[in-house]
Amino acid sequence: MPDGANGVARYYDVNTRTFLARGEGGADGIIHRAVWAEGVRDRSSAFHFVHELILEQIAALGSSRARVLDLGCGVGASLLYLLGRCDGEGFGITLSGEQYELARKHGGAEWLRGDFCRDPLPPEVDLAYGIESFVHASDARAFFRNVSGALRPRGRLVLVDDFLVGDGTKTPVHDFAWGWHAASLLAPPEVDAMAAESELELVSDRDLTPYLALDRPRDRALALFLPLLRPFLPDTPRARSLVGGNALRICLKRGLVEYRFRVWEKRAQSAGVTECGSASTTISASRGRCSGSSTPPGSGDSSRTSPRP
Ligand SMILES: C[S@@+](CC[C@H](N)C(=O)[O-])C[C@H]1O[C@@H](n2cnc3c(N)ncnc32)[C@H](O)[C@@H]1O
Repeated sequence: MPDGANGVARYYDVNTRTFLARGEGGADGIIHRAVWAEGVRDRSSAFHFVHELILEQIAALGSSRARVLDLGCGVGASLLYLLGRCDGEGFGITLSGEQYELARKHGGAEWLRGDFCRDPLPPEVDLAYGIESFVHASDARAFFRNVSGALRPRGRLVLVDDFLVGDGTKTPVHDFAWGWHAASLLAPPEVDAMAAESELELVSDRDLTPYLALDRPRDRALALFLPLLRPFLPDTPRARSLVGGNALRICLKRGLVEYRFRVWEKRAQSAGVTECGSASTTISASRGRCSGSSTPPGSGDSSRTSPRP
């Protein structure tokens, strides 16, 4: 595992039980932010808001039994919520051994422990999504290559995450990236260029930043005391979580970072392409079919190999 991924795994191994015990969505196993969009009346709906947007994407695909992949699945709450509301087959991958064990206890889907940038992913996926996980990727280009290899043609990728605005040189941006191990805090144009290299085209982009609750009393209290405590804080996953969370709040309030719901579609295969390596194989088709994850989609093989846990 690369160093960056080790740091992320340790961060979640150490912090997950605290996030579940003290986080607002923790009681439901949710480790992401609440979105108080128009029409959202209670806390539960705010935590499920992005799930409902993902369900709309699944419905739009029109697959009879959608194969759904959660990239950075936490303890499995999002995937189980979706599978309870659509006819689908689910896969969830997390770097954290702690989270993997908790997810496995729920059953209901195939839970995997691994790195979504480089480990094999399930093939022929209809919809893959990552909620607040892409930003941790140690190699964003490898992430898109791997995920694109797992998607079927016209399959979709949804990322709900923080994206950089501007040049990223301000101190709060550095503090956020350091505290939350955000190695892939990138600007949308850079992300879209990498996605396009892996045959993924942006089809939808929505800014959810205005709907985040950024002035909760506990956030304001932390903002007050953290600058005083910071020189004495040890470099532990818990301290990083506090520093990163406080910095992210500043970034979102100042417009240095935006929280967005973004969707890409994998290009359809070129007509008439039958085999990789044959004279008629186009570059784009060969990339979609023959590289990326170790089990290429669209191979015509009905056996669906699962990645190693
Ligand atoms: C903020 S948590 C979000 C968890 C879950 N998506 C949710 O909304 O409750 C980030 C998740 O991303 C996962 N993650 C980060 N980098 C990863 C990687 N390279 N491969 C697999 N999972 C990763 C972490 O293990 C963790 O489960």
